[in-house]
Amino acid sequence: MRILSGVQPSGELHLGNYFGAIQQHLALQEQGDAFYFIADYHALTTLHDAPRLRQLTREVAATYLALGLDPAKATFFRQSDVPEVHELTWMLECVTGMGVLQRATSYKDKIARGIKPNVGLFTYPALMAADILIYGSNLVPVGQDQVQHIEIAQDLAASFNHAFGVEVLVRPEFRLSATPKVPGVDGQKMSKSYGNTIPFFARGKALKRAVNAIVTDSKDPKREALDPDGCNAFAIFALFADEAEQAELAQRYREDRTFPGYGVTKKRIIELIDERFGPARERFDALLQPGSELDDVLLAGARRAREVARETVDRCREAAGLGPMLR
Ligand code: ADP
Ligand code: TRP
Repeated sequence: MRILSGVQPSGELHLGNYFGAIQQHLALQEQGDAFYFIADYHALTTLHDAPRLRQLTREVAATYLALGLDPAKATFFRQSDVPEVHELTWMLECVTGMGVLQRATSYKDKIARGIKPNVGLFTYPALMAADILIYGSNLVPVGQDQVQHIEIAQDLAASFNHAFGVEVLVRPEFRLSATPKVPGVDGQKMSKSYGNTIPFFARGKALKRAVNAIVTDSKDPKREALDPDGCNAFAIFALFADEAEQAELAQRYREDRTFPGYGVTKKRIIELIDERFGPARERFDALLQPGSELDDVLLAGARRAREVARETVDRCREAAGLGPMLR
């Protein structure tokens, strides 16, 4: 079974990425032939700053390795090390009706959030479909916001196969985690592009600042019951805490009129982040030093991924009536 997913290097990785995607990616590397990549071409839709893109790309790589990605099990690479993906993108775009991309909600959401539209942002789902289809992926573990993109990949695979009367492209399925839509500090979906994240490798003051930015209501716990179900801080706390600890805090919210307030929840979130991510943070720092294994891992991953990609592109070229790729 081919498992595949990608993450954009467009900012520091955050709890939404971890609980929506990365945690599943690491678990699934044990269960199939996993391909994971850093979607740097996708990041170009919003990030035009070469040193920053380079740095963020290394940081995403270091993050995965620090958290336990095993290069002996999973093929790990940079998207841009496989430029063949643009060939497939073009072939797919030529069998894609305009309406398919016009209906994509992530484009509309990003524009609504003030991101300046460009053609790359609009055609982004076609590139993502090519990412998935070029490796013959069966399973794509992602967060909720990416589901529509996988459905588009399913459509485009069918359109290509139908247009050329072949069965070259494999239909992918998505896989959601138990927490596919982690809220940000403002209660909207946590996202790098929305400036509402808690980066899981933040530390000290920066971590405190991010957690303290969680918006809560202004209820006075001395006078009225607090509601764990509607509380953003509680939702973030619940990502980590075991059931007993969740039940205990929920009860204090509802019944303890001496409860000091949401600061307690925030303080606990900071402790839980430190406990969970502290050791990996040290490995992350080491991996970012020059001479670490990071570059070699990405190079070996790119070689393997590119071989698979070329085979698919050759078959698609043949199906469409294009000549074979010159090597
Ligand atoms: P961002 O939205 O912060 O730019 P990406 O788009 O790079 O993050 O997402 C990388 C992976 O993390 C995707 O699989 C995506 O679905 C998942 N993801 C991102 N934000 C969240 C969230 N708030 N909750 C759950 N999963 C998320
Ligand atoms: N668009 C995805 C995101 O923003 C990243 C991505 C690019 C991806 N190509 C992919 C995810 C292919 C899964 C499969 O999160």
